[in-house]
Amino acid sequence: MSTTTLNLHDRSLEVILENQQPGGAYLACPVMPDYQFSWFRDGAYIAYALTLDGAQISAARNGSMAAQWESAYRFFAWGARAIIQREAALERVMAAVSAGQQPDMHDVLNARYLPDGSDGPDDWPEFQLDGPGTWLWSLHEYVRATGFTPLPAEWEHAVRLVSRYLAIMWRTPCYDCWEERGTDIHTSTLAAIWGGLKAAQELVPALDYEAVRDEIKAFVLQNCLTPGGELAKSVGVDMVDANLLTVAVPHGLFEVNDPLMLRTLARIEHDLVAPSGGVHRHAEDVYYGGGAWVLLGLHLGWYYAELGQRAKAREILTWVETQADAAGNLPEQVNTSMFAPDHYDPWVAQRGPIANPLLWTHAEYMILQHKLGE
Ligand code: BGC
Repeated sequence: MSTTTLNLHDRSLEVILENQQPGGAYLACPVMPDYQFSWFRDGAYIAYALTLDGAQISAARNGSMAAQWESAYRFFAWGARAIIQREAALERVMAAVSAGQQPDMHDVLNARYLPDGSDGPDDWPEFQLDGPGTWLWSLHEYVRATGFTPLPAEWEHAVRLVSRYLAIMWRTPCYDCWEERGTDIHTSTLAAIWGGLKAAQELVPALDYEAVRDEIKAFVLQNCLTPGGELAKSVGVDMVDANLLTVAVPHGLFEVNDPLMLRTLARIEHDLVAPSGGVHRHAEDVYYGGGAWVLLGLHLGWYYAELGQRAKAREILTWVETQADAAGNLPEQVNTSMFAPDHYDPWVAQRGPIANPLLWTHAEYMILQHKLGE
């Protein structure tokens, strides 16, 4: 392991642990006002990075709990509390949607939370279903790695509640993981729900979501394809999105080498991979000029690692190591390649510089290191 690699790993861990709130949630980015909140999605990837990292340390210490696992534990406990805190509202919205009514947006799970776990301000696209699905996936990975069973009663309660919520709400249009297109149904969101329901069943064997998972998969095959036969970003949209990588990794709706995934991967490589490094989210992105996302580059590396294409994955890791600033911080995206350069300055003027450090990017860095066995 080179010194740079070692330092960036340690720095990543430090950034994550430093920005965990007393209640257990992780701030998405400590310095960007819009991101001084916690998301289920970001936190789920962060906790997964710590699950992998802690496994190594804990094995070396004969199984005693590593700081990484303690941190992830506190995050899952935070998530369980945040879900249970919304129980009455979630019951209301599930009853409404089951009765064929429109959901009241005050009753859904929020996207971002204040450090104390309460809801963030309402001026944000709040309704997203991928976050809780990803939280369930990450929780299952944690329980598998740590052997932490039986689940604490509060966690089991949260798993039961939020999985039922996902099983009832999955057909309802919501914002995608980029907090865009709030009136569409998104393929990557469906995959996160599918993966979350699978995880819930494994966490609480009395739960049975087989039928709804089959329905979701059939819906994707029926409605979520482009005319060219790739997975589409959203129903009826002839575009790919780099978030489609998550359909296979980590959610496993299709295998990494399923022809459908390989066609989707090829179009992502063609349309979205930036020659200078990083991956754009989608062809219409204008956020900070629609730059190349470091975390998506790393996620592509993770996909390559799962495909056994280690050299390509390694190349991405090496590029990312050159993107850290002098303090060892990794940003959300870089502007060395932009789809909509005219939009860059206005975003900076309005919201400040690109988020840096972004905890999710640091987590994806650690994940890829582990996938490469480094
Ligand atoms: C991204 C979300 C992310 C949030 C915090 C937003 O710009 O679209 O995916 O959860 O930032 O990192």
